[in-house]
Amino acid sequence: MGQRGQGLEGQSVQSGPASWAELVQSTSSKLVRFRGPAGEPYCPAVEEVRGEQMRSWQHTVVLDPSRSEPLFLQLSDALQQDIRCGRLRPGTRLPGSRSLAETLGVHRNTVLAGYGELIAQGWLNTRPAGGTFVARDLPPGSTRMPRERLKARLSLAPGFPLGPPVPSARIPDFPPDVLVLAKGAPDVRRMPAAELSRAYRRALARHGRALLGYGDPRGHPRLRAALAEMLASTRALPASEETVFITRGSQMALDLIARALLGPGDVVAVEGLGHPGAWAALRLTGASLVPVPVDAHGVNVAALASLAEQRPLRAIYLTPHHQFPTTSVLPAARRMALLELARRHRTVVIEDDYDHEFHYDGRPVLPLASRDEAGVVIYVGTLSKVLAPGLRIGYLVAPGALIARITELRVSTDLQGDQAHECAVAELFEDGDLVRHVRRMRRVYRGRRDALVEALRTHLGSVVQVMPPAGGMALWARVDPAVDLDRWSERGVEHGVGFLPGRRYAFDGGQVHAVRLGFTPLDEQELDEAARRMATALREMAPRSSQARGASQGS
Ligand SMILES: Cc1ncc(COP(=O)(O)O)c(C=O)c1O
Repeated sequence: MGQRGQGLEGQSVQSGPASWAELVQSTSSKLVRFRGPAGEPYCPAVEEVRGEQMRSWQHTVVLDPSRSEPLFLQLSDALQQDIRCGRLRPGTRLPGSRSLAETLGVHRNTVLAGYGELIAQGWLNTRPAGGTFVARDLPPGSTRMPRERLKARLSLAPGFPLGPPVPSARIPDFPPDVLVLAKGAPDVRRMPAAELSRAYRRALARHGRALLGYGDPRGHPRLRAALAEMLASTRALPASEETVFITRGSQMALDLIARALLGPGDVVAVEGLGHPGAWAALRLTGASLVPVPVDAHGVNVAALASLAEQRPLRAIYLTPHHQFPTTSVLPAARRMALLELARRHRTVVIEDDYDHEFHYDGRPVLPLASRDEAGVVIYVGTLSKVLAPGLRIGYLVAPGALIARITELRVSTDLQGDQAHECAVAELFEDGDLVRHVRRMRRVYRGRRDALVEALRTHLGSVVQVMPPAGGMALWARVDPAVDLDRWSERGVEHGVGFLPGRRYAFDGGQVHAVRLGFTPLDEQELDEAARRMATALREMAPRSSQARGASQGS
């Protein structure tokens, strides 16, 4: 210490955040993020760089020589203020005194004196290897600790009305060691990552400038063309680059379609056992959803027809290929009846064909959209099941007039997709990598389907009745009604297996004596282990009924 009053250069300095960012950057070669895309200073609130905690920090220090308070005290006050309010967090390295002095336009001793003041009070400390840091244990009385403030902020009730709750359809997260059967997701361990990263590099190297700018909100033309060709050749869908629209996953496609077409008062028919994620998107528009029964052959079209006679149906959302969650395939007669009823009532059919590629027995049935002469079907697909859900590529195919509306809606939300990403995926189509991957995975998944059926029969015996589905990524297993499925699913997690009770897919939330078990993300051994864990969980449930006996005999 002993520097009080020294180094007063008599100069007012107001350093802007940009110079501060530069300053902090100059003090540490490890700090890498200081400027946003437009060159503005970038100051994330809680950024940490590995090892030593070093965070960028956007200061508001104003030193004013006209005030009676010495400059070094003004500096120490400003720093203390930033520490108190959490802008400077414990463990943060401060700039070196020389460079800070240079930036603020003051003598180095002024900075040393300011730092010294705070070191003496316990706000800062120095380390033998050099450097001045915000103390990890702040002095008593600095009650507004950053962590506490953050917590307080989180639990702060908003000072404004939140409005009605947002419908949620998220599948719960499972702990990392749980074998998850609750998702019909692809095995991302088998994803052609090397091919994709090569394609990405190639795309950026060849078209970087164009890909990194603003582009077509409908999606990259190469990917739209590749998808249109694939849809025409494998699904007989009359699609073109102009009628395909790329989204970030099919969930976004459903949301855009819903917002483009639906509003409060509209009635939408949905499958009574169905996809809660789609219901959530449809509900957000204020439309009324009406469930239609589903049986072993998919949605009951006769029930749908009588509903359409009773009230005007604006739309029908359904999964005809592998009905979600039951996996049944809608037979031809129901398909024709459905198209006819939609034509007669001028009702939109939203056809969600989420896992078309994975059909194992017989030929895949062509989509409703391939038979749509009346322009009533909007087709929705995704690459989430083929490649990986994290890639977020979905698409919809619709008449040009609707594409134009959806384009405007997308622009108001998201401007456009990730063009480099879309272009790279287009290359996977063009090079044949994607087709090869699908062919390979179809074989793999068929084996896994059979393995899970076998494992369930071995470990669970008569507790579950399971038929191998003709296609899809999950099977629908009927469960002995004596089994309490909610409890079984809870106990399953404790035993390291994640599955959800069938009730989750029921529109009315009522009891369903079945479970949907995804077999694609796990290999044969894992599937066997998952079924074994299901059996253990069931056995260890309190013996409410004969439920455990079936399982123990089966194991
Ligand atoms: C029936 C169905 N449709 C759509 C989706 C959404 O998929 P994504 O948004 O990843 O394309 C899912 C996801 O699980 C699904 O099961």
